[in-house]
Amino acid sequence: MPGVLTKISVPFVDLSIFTWDFFLALLNLFSRKRKVGHVTPEGHPGYRGHWPEWKAARPEDSRCSCPALNAMANHGIIARSGKNISFIEMNHQIRATYNFAASFCSFVPHFAARMLDKSYNKDNFDLHDLDKHNGIEHDNSITRRDLHFQPDQWIKHQPFIDELLDSASGKDKDGHTLLTVEDIAKFAGRRRLQAKTHNPNYTRSLFHDVFGSSNNATLLTIFGGRVDDLRTILHEERLPEGWESRIRKPHGLTIAAFNASVLAVERGTRRVEAELRKKHKEGGTKIEVDHHDELAAAK
Ligand code: HEM
Ligand SMILES: *[C@@H]1O[C@H](CO)[C@@H](O)[C@H](O)[C@H]1NC(C)=O
Ligand SMILES: *[C@@H]1O[C@H](CO)[C@@H](O)[C@H](O)[C@H]1NC(C)=O
Ligand SMILES: *[C@@H]1O[C@H](CO)[C@@H](O)[C@H](O)[C@H]1NC(C)=O
Ligand SMILES: *[C@@H]1O[C@H](CO)[C@@H](O)[C@H](O)[C@H]1NC(C)=O
Repeated sequence: MPGVLTKISVPFVDLSIFTWDFFLALLNLFSRKRKVGHVTPEGHPGYRGHWPEWKAARPEDSRCSCPALNAMANHGIIARSGKNISFIEMNHQIRATYNFAASFCSFVPHFAARMLDKSYNKDNFDLHDLDKHNGIEHDNSITRRDLHFQPDQWIKHQPFIDELLDSASGKDKDGHTLLTVEDIAKFAGRRRLQAKTHNPNYTRSLFHDVFGSSNNATLLTIFGGRVDDLRTILHEERLPEGWESRIRKPHGLTIAAFNASVLAVERGTRRVEAELRKKHKEGGTKIEVDHHDELAAAK
């Protein structure tokens, strides 16, 4: 999202949000990180890693293309029905659950309200409303097939998730397997090229590329690239028992800090995409659709 702010003019976003964000970023610089095990605030669901009971969505419930928001509904942090949620509540709950900075948590729901032609202060929405195509939801996501192949964007595509997570090449000092910027770039670059080749209704814009990178970048920041956690979060849309945001700064992940990860992912993806396109042109790679796993495509 931050990249969006810099590259596309979004009229309602005024400078105040950046100023605010800038101050939060400064405060973070001079503050101690929260202790491990104390990131989620006391009194909020998930304090000390105890998340409320996870329940699968019922057929009548509303879900969307965002795994992080679906997970909140599956745990009852927001209404389990996924319906009639206020933008203000969403702001507060993503702040406490994921430790994004207050500036960011204000910006995204404001953006969503505007996209839906609703009032941030007065109106409510259903999660499914967020799936408005080319609003925030867009083609070539990590966890969903394109709208052309999958009209219900709340339905995830398991092979994409496995493909991405199986490609993780990093390790932390405790031996956890980590997803890296390069892993995401390789996956996303292939996915972009493949979607363009096979989806007759494929649309792409700078705006959505950058939004996509923001989503991708949450995997590395909020979720710390931890593959064991991401398997649960992306496949089941569930927060693992004991999980907390990997961002321990007391004022949360600011737009300014997030921006750096977003740009790194976007740059990497473009490079991979350009390399693949070149190879493809030279006849080196054949881009085909595999019925089950379109990703086999651009390999
Ligand atoms: C009000 C806040 C939010 C809104 C309105 C929102 C909306 C969305 C939407 C519409 C998508 C689908 C985009 C696509 O087509 O690929 C999405 C994807 C995603 N979002 Fe969110 N989101 C929000 C907050 C968050 C937070 C707090 C996190 C992380 C902690 C997050 C992580 C993700 C991830 C990982 C994806 C998957 C990207 C993909 O499949 O390519 N989102 N979000
Ligand atoms: C939705 O929530 C509002 C309060 O935010 C409430 O007044 C309204 O009755 C609810 N609507 C439904 C259909 O539950
Ligand atoms: C493709 O796009 C056209 C024009 O927007 C639309 O009429 C058509 O239904 C779409 N087809 C599919 C399968 O998504
Ligand atoms: C994000 O980074 C770019 C490039 O470094 C910079 O031009 C832009 O001002 C940054 N935006 C924010 C909101 O920090
Ligand atoms: C994020 O991931 C999706 C799906 O793999 C990809 O299409 C998109 O281009 C990615 N964005 C970046 C910048 O990596």
